[in-house]
Amino acid sequence: MIAFEHVHKSYAVRRGDWVLEDLHLTVEPGELVFILGHSGAGKSTLLKLITLEERPTRGTVEVAGFRSDRIRRGEVPQLRRRCGVVFQDFRLIRDKTISENVAYCLRMTGTLEKGVVRRAVARVLHSVGLYGLRDRFPHELSGGEQQRAAIGRALIHQPPILLADEPTGNLDTRTGDEVMEVLLRLHRAGTTILVATHDEQRAQRLATRRLTLEQGRVVEDLFLRPHGTEIY
Ligand SMILES: Nc1ncnc2c1ncn2[C@@H]1O[C@H](COP(=O)(O)OP(=O)(O)OP(=O)(O)O)[C@@H](O)[C@H]1O
Ligand SMILES: [Mg+2]
Repeated sequence: MIAFEHVHKSYAVRRGDWVLEDLHLTVEPGELVFILGHSGAGKSTLLKLITLEERPTRGTVEVAGFRSDRIRRGEVPQLRRRCGVVFQDFRLIRDKTISENVAYCLRMTGTLEKGVVRRAVARVLHSVGLYGLRDRFPHELSGGEQQRAAIGRALIHQPPILLADEPTGNLDTRTGDEVMEVLLRLHRAGTTILVATHDEQRAQRLATRRLTLEQGRVVEDLFLRPHGTEIY
């Protein structure tokens, strides 16, 4: 589903200053991978290579059948529709309600029929437990609710892959747990999920796999439980 083959990534003009170095990694459908590592270790960069927001400097990344060295420009939106992305800072549009935030994403990609949009928005808002709050604006929601709205938005195209960059980083333990509960439900429904985080405890408790980066290299890759098995 996701395969990194000898990926090197450098942002600098000076090559050899690797942010990711010789990353070789395969993620199978249904895995729930927590990516750990100190600040600057390369976690966000790894996620950005999956959506091709960043391109590998060397090596190839293959995601859902698209290869970084062969993909045509016109195919990049198709790849991105297969990867929902959730950011630490939510990135909701402030002057749109939660429904409109989610709907906007669908309209942007050409779905304009009102009934279709309304049903899709209702579906994702139910799935993140926010249907009742659909007409509120982002500032009228708690941090956890905003993050769940951002997850809802990421799910609008029913992506097989969900990437979450520190989804609980700004939240207290309880609201963080609510957000994780949503991710776990998606995991149980079969979504492949990669979470970049500093949260070692949740990684230990919830992940099927824990990947640790240190200065752009994988220093540990642990399979904690088979995917598709229940945790509780
Ligand atoms: N656009 C960029 N241009 C230049 N350097 C960058 C860019 N983005 C990230 N870097 C550098 O790449 C390295 C890895 O950054 P990255 O954001 O992947 O780390 P991270 O593990 O996500 O860290 P954090 O836990 O703080 O989010 C850092 O040294 C960072 O300064
Ligand atoms: Mg980061």
